[in-house]
Amino acid sequence: MSVTNPKELAGRAAAELVRDGMRVGLGTGSTVHFTLLRLAERIRAERLRITGVPTSDDTERKARELGIPLVELGSVERLDLTIDGADEIDGRFDMIKGGGGALLREKVVASISAREAIVVGEDKVVERLGVRFKLPVEVVPFAAPVVERALTSLGAKPALRKRADGATFVSDNHNWILDCAFAEGIADAERLDRALKSVPGVVETGLFLGLAHVLFVGCNDGRVVVREK
Ligand code: 5RP
Repeated sequence: MSVTNPKELAGRAAAELVRDGMRVGLGTGSTVHFTLLRLAERIRAERLRITGVPTSDDTERKARELGIPLVELGSVERLDLTIDGADEIDGRFDMIKGGGGALLREKVVASISAREAIVVGEDKVVERLGVRFKLPVEVVPFAAPVVERALTSLGAKPALRKRADGATFVSDNHNWILDCAFAEGIADAERLDRALKSVPGVVETGLFLGLAHVLFVGCNDGRVVVREK
């Protein structure tokens, strides 16, 4: 049966980048889930030996269930490759991430990766960041009201992320997330990122700038388009 889910196409294709002995950052989300499934198949079929570092509790649980060997972040200095998803990616490979709330760990893992592969369905490829998707900003709960006012003065319309049951969403790092809308999208991502990070109480932003090296786009017609930076 042929695969027609763009996320599955991209997620599985990127798993072929993994070579024996690699230390691999394991991203978070529904697209990376297919990467994990393919990696588990390869571990069984090819006796592939890899060491994974998960970017979230969710990925850690899934990887363990699939039999993918994991190590703590602290036991590796560098990773050969990380495979992660994105909420939006533009022509410069700049991204918005954090739809799943894992932005902080995802950015730390990306920062020690020799190569960052991004897996998306074609609907995630955009001309300008922030037009369709809100920018997640992880904040210390104590500081949230102060940060909210500061972000508003920077032109954002922040909203505290809630879970489906109405409770406040809490990240794996015990922080909160403000999802920030921008009326015209994000014109200058570098400048915005610097401004957001200068606000006391902001832990990390979902702007991933200059971190991606290769992009796997799953298309609705069944193709996977691979682009190198
Ligand atoms: C989680 C993320 C995810 O990678 C992003 O939200 C994409 O998720 P999905 O593959 O489910 O669309 O950044 O923090």
